[in-house]
Amino acid sequence: MTPLWVFDALGVSHGFKQVGAVIVGGIAGVMALVGGGMLFHRRWTDPRIRKTSSFADIAILAILLLQLWLGLLTIFASLGHLDGHEMTKFMAWAQGIFTFEAGAAAYIADVAPIFKLHLFLGLTIFLVFPFTRLVHMLSVPLRYLFRPGYQVVRSRRSAPLPTRAGPVAPNRSASK
Ligand code: HEM
Repeated sequence: MTPLWVFDALGVSHGFKQVGAVIVGGIAGVMALVGGGMLFHRRWTDPRIRKTSSFADIAILAILLLQLWLGLLTIFASLGHLDGHEMTKFMAWAQGIFTFEAGAAAYIADVAPIFKLHLFLGLTIFLVFPFTRLVHMLSVPLRYLFRPGYQVVRSRRSAPLPTRAGPVAPNRSASK
């Protein structure tokens, strides 16, 4: 989204930005893949979490993982044009989309299909996010910074453990 002239004014070459996108984006992408994979595994295999998950909860995680794979696959196409020229097309396209420029799609008409797939799914995520848990990204959780530290712990037992001295609270009996 950053206008090209900003990079030029800062002396950041297109090639440097392209290589940066591949290396930094690649590392971040692999890390997100590992984290996202763990979250998907948890949501899919933990019986309690699976039971309380809606279709959208599971689907949005799967879509994000797919988007990550597509993003990582674009790296192989990017390696073929490390001068950064191809990347300037995406910048023009993104700025065109966000400023409602008619015909912005023309900027990326000749890019590799893997990029188009990634952009298509990316825009699809924008479309569905209000109907999924992703909408929480719009909340500003400032209250969490100031709330007192507490942890709610519930016992699974409905009644205190019986002891010889009579019923006592579970944590007291554990320390005996
Ligand atoms: C509308 C939303 C999105 C757009 C327009 C978009 C666009 C792009 C573009 C143009 C590239 C290629 C960069 C280059 O090498 O020149 C790219 C790469 C990548 N994208 Fe996305 N993307 C979007 C959403 C996402 C999301 C949600 C994820 C993660 C779930 C993601 C993960 C990646 C990764 C890992 C790469 C490869 C590393 C890199 O080149 O930086 N993208 N994306």
